[in-house]
Amino acid sequence: MDSSEPFYGPDFARLAAQDPDVAQVLLDEVARLRGGLQLIASENLSSPAVLAALGSTLNDKYAEGYPGHRYYRGCEVADRAEQIAVERAKRLFGADHVNVQPYSGTTAILAAYAALLQPGDGVLALALEHGGHITHGSKVNFSGRWFHVVSYGVRRDTETIDYDEVRDLALRHRPRVIVCGATAYPRLIDFAAFRAIADEAGAWLLADVAHEIGLMAGGAIPSAVPYADVVTFTTHKSLRGPRGGGVLCTDELASGIDRAVFPFTQGGPLMHVVAAKAVAFGEALRPEFRAYAASAVDNGRTLAEGLADEGLRPVSGGTDTHLALVDLRGTGVSGAEAERRCAEAGILLNHNAIPYDPAPATVTSGIRVGTLCATTQGMGAAEMREIASLVVRAIRQPGAITSVLERVKGLTATHPAYPR
Ligand SMILES: Cc1ncc(COP(=O)(O)O)c(C=O)c1O
Repeated sequence: MDSSEPFYGPDFARLAAQDPDVAQVLLDEVARLRGGLQLIASENLSSPAVLAALGSTLNDKYAEGYPGHRYYRGCEVADRAEQIAVERAKRLFGADHVNVQPYSGTTAILAAYAALLQPGDGVLALALEHGGHITHGSKVNFSGRWFHVVSYGVRRDTETIDYDEVRDLALRHRPRVIVCGATAYPRLIDFAAFRAIADEAGAWLLADVAHEIGLMAGGAIPSAVPYADVVTFTTHKSLRGPRGGGVLCTDELASGIDRAVFPFTQGGPLMHVVAAKAVAFGEALRPEFRAYAASAVDNGRTLAEGLADEGLRPVSGGTDTHLALVDLRGTGVSGAEAERRCAEAGILLNHNAIPYDPAPATVTSGIRVGTLCATTQGMGAAEMREIASLVVRAIRQPGAITSVLERVKGLTATHPAYPR
């Protein structure tokens, strides 16, 4: 076992000595990341500094409450971690108020709903089959169980959000909250249009930008903050931080959001994660992060164009972000089978429903690809074009798996994840 691995800090040797089984799992995971291409659109590679904060003794501290108002004593140091995170996030996003305690994107949305809604209230959100997230009204999720959710979709011809339909539904159903944001929607969302519809319908506007928040922070795409009453996000996708979530809101909603996070939906905050969020916000405030966000979007466009040139149709004709959805119906290969073939060739991506997908959700006619990890690894346009060609070969030519895997190894050797 190589205990000189740099990504677990100086204590890794202790873990290796005490618990070689788990230490080996950690090493194998780094090897897995290094050995393939991560095109799963929701994943990224956090920095050694973020990982170091995650591995700190702040893990041990109970700090229910907020800085200066904690339930337990001994929180002065933990307070500083949260104050730094909050101050940096406010600067980064230009929001009136931020709550950095949500354990995940899902609990951030849970808190936002709790602050704005009562059980049985109406919500209008993007349909799951058209790119919405399960927290936007799926029946298997609290959102679909506790609220009356009406869904809008994308147009058949453009595969982009039908703002006329959103307005019609908002005026007909008068939801208390309109949700914009998605998990598999490659185009920019017109937050100004949603704001106007929410105002006309007398609804709160909630933007769930779990995916795009880092692109917004880096100035690569327009921000939702000036338009939405509440913005929920994750810290582990395009923000490249620890696994977690956050909520931004206006001054008007600040105390309601804070009470909805704690004590309503969560217990003690994960203070080591809060410290790691502070590190990630600090990284995102640097000029290099602006370059990263711009590059992730450029790479998204190049990857989608490359796939189109090789005969795979990007849904909506392309992408404005780090992710693309691809229609595989012309290939005779399902999304699930494409996912399997690519994985065999060292390329990780996920099968995904495309709008109006004729195939069941477990099979699908599409795949979703993203550039966040590859961009962190320093890949650019030339690599994106090659990756597009490798993805297409892996899908269309099962006999080419070995040669595709060889090229994947070449790319990961020149652009490694977690370089030594
Ligand atoms: C749009 C959207 N909202 C919410 C979430 C939930 O985030 P988490 O997995 O951190 O709970 C995701 C995660 O994929 C997402 O894409």
